[in-house]
Order: sequence, then C-alpha cells, then structure tokens
Amino acid sequence: MKLLNFIKNNLFIQNFFGSLISLIPTYLEFTLGKYIGIKKALYITAHDKTFGSYIEFGVFTGSSFNFAMKVNKKIDKLLGDSNCDFIGFDSFEGFGKVGDTDDHPRFKDDTFSVNEEKVLKNIKKNSNNQEYQIIKGFFHSTLSKKPEDYKIQKARVVLVDCDLKEPTILALNFIKNILQKGTIILFDDYIFYKGDKKKGEYAAFEEFKKNNPNIKFRQAFEYGYGSKAFIVSEI
Ligand SMILES: C[S@@+](CC[C@H](N)C(=O)[O-])C[C@H]1O[C@@H](n2cnc3c(N)ncnc32)[C@H](O)[C@@H]1O
Repeated sequence: MKLLNFIKNNLFIQNFFGSLISLIPTYLEFTLGKYIGIKKALYITAHDKTFGSYIEFGVFTGSSFNFAMKVNKKIDKLLGDSNCDFIGFDSFEGFGKVGDTDDHPRFKDDTFSVNEEKVLKNIKKNSNNQEYQIIKGFFHSTLSKKPEDYKIQKARVVLVDCDLKEPTILALNFIKNILQKGTIILFDDYIFYKGDKKKGEYAAFEEFKKNNPNIKFRQAFEYGYGSKAFIVSEI
C-alpha cells in the first residue's frame, strides 16, 4: 500500500518505466518470444526423451533455425545427447503464388526474399557439427515428397513459421506420418488475420485436426506475440 501511494504521488515513475519498455523494438520482442518458445519445446522433448528431428517450415534469414541448433547443444549438455538433426524448408523467395484467402498486407514476397547464399553460409557456421538439411523450393513442390525422401524418421519439434493457411496445410500433411506422442508443434503466427478463424495457421491447424481425429493435441504453452505450442498427446 505504501508503494502504491508513493507511485500515485510520483507519476514520473510510471512515465519512466513506460518510456523504457516502449524503447524495446517490437520485432526484437517478437523474436525473443520465438527463441524462448523453441527453447522450451526442445527442453520439454529432451526431458521426456521424445527424440527425432527439429523441422522448420519457413527459414527466412535462419534466425530461428540457428537458434534451435545453438540451444539444442546446451540442452544436450544438460540432459544427454538427443541426436537431433535439423531440417529447414524455404523458397528463399517468399510465398510464391498467394490465393485470395491467404492475402495479407504484410505477408508479401518482397519482404521475405533473401540472399540465400549468405543465409546458408551463416547456417553452416552455426551448425557446430550438428546434422542439418536446408531444402530450398516452394512447398507445393518440396512437400509433395515424403519425409523418408529426406531421411526424416520422427518429428521432435516442428516450427510452423510460414504465416499463411495454404503452406501450413502442406506442412502439416507432410509431417502427419512422422508425428509421435510428445512431438511439439509451434505455430508462430497463430493469431494474425485479425483473429479470423478461417485464415492463417490457425485455420490450417483446425482443418488438420478435423481431418485427423486420431491425432490428439494438448496446448503446451503460449509464447511471443500470440504464438502457441501444441503437444501430440495421443496418436
Ligand atoms: C516469417 S518467415 C520465417 C522466419 C524464420 N523462421 C525466422 O524466425 O527467422 C516466413 C518464411 O516462410 C517462407 N514461405 C512461406 N510460404 C512458403 C511456401 N509456400 N514455400 C516456400 N517457402 C515459403 C517464406 O519464404 C519466408 O521466408
């Protein structure tokens, strides 16, 4: 009560902290949230011995992919070797042809085309002797193959970070047969499209659950700016 009275009489305190927090760039906070989400998922799966691959749909500059490789090394030191390999899918040219339902003012190709050579060099630098594959191409072509074509046996952690409904559906159908009890799927853009239930990663996941009632999910945790993680609880 004393503290509250002090604050009420000294409004500069709220001004100071408000200014401080507003200085933190939103993009940085968004990325930090994603890092923490990946760290939690890799820790929980290592703790429960849910072994397999870390799979990322939407690599872009490699920020989250590199972080996953980095933090897994640390978790391995703590909980033992997880023998994890890392697989990333991206066109490195953005989304390609975007249908009407996926149209969004911020999800545009010019934002997401990157210097692939630079990104791949940096991923190699960050891999620290861990096994990884980067599969370049648009999902309708790269994900028309099966996980075994890329020598992927089981999914441990999956980061769905491709923003739109259509590529998310392709990603979920691709991993369907390599899901196991304990796999954690992170949906990074779960709330965008103004909360529209027919759009984005949310709609793709709802459709996937409806078409695959034998696979049960529980929400594991929330992270970042409206992102969500789900764990396969029954399969
Ligand atoms: C938000 S970015 C990924 C960010 C990255 N995970 C990170 O944290 O640094 C989304 C990426 O998904 C990729 N993407 C979206 N739809 C795709 C598709 N149909 N085929 C291939 N790549 C796609 C884009 O090229 C883009 O690089």
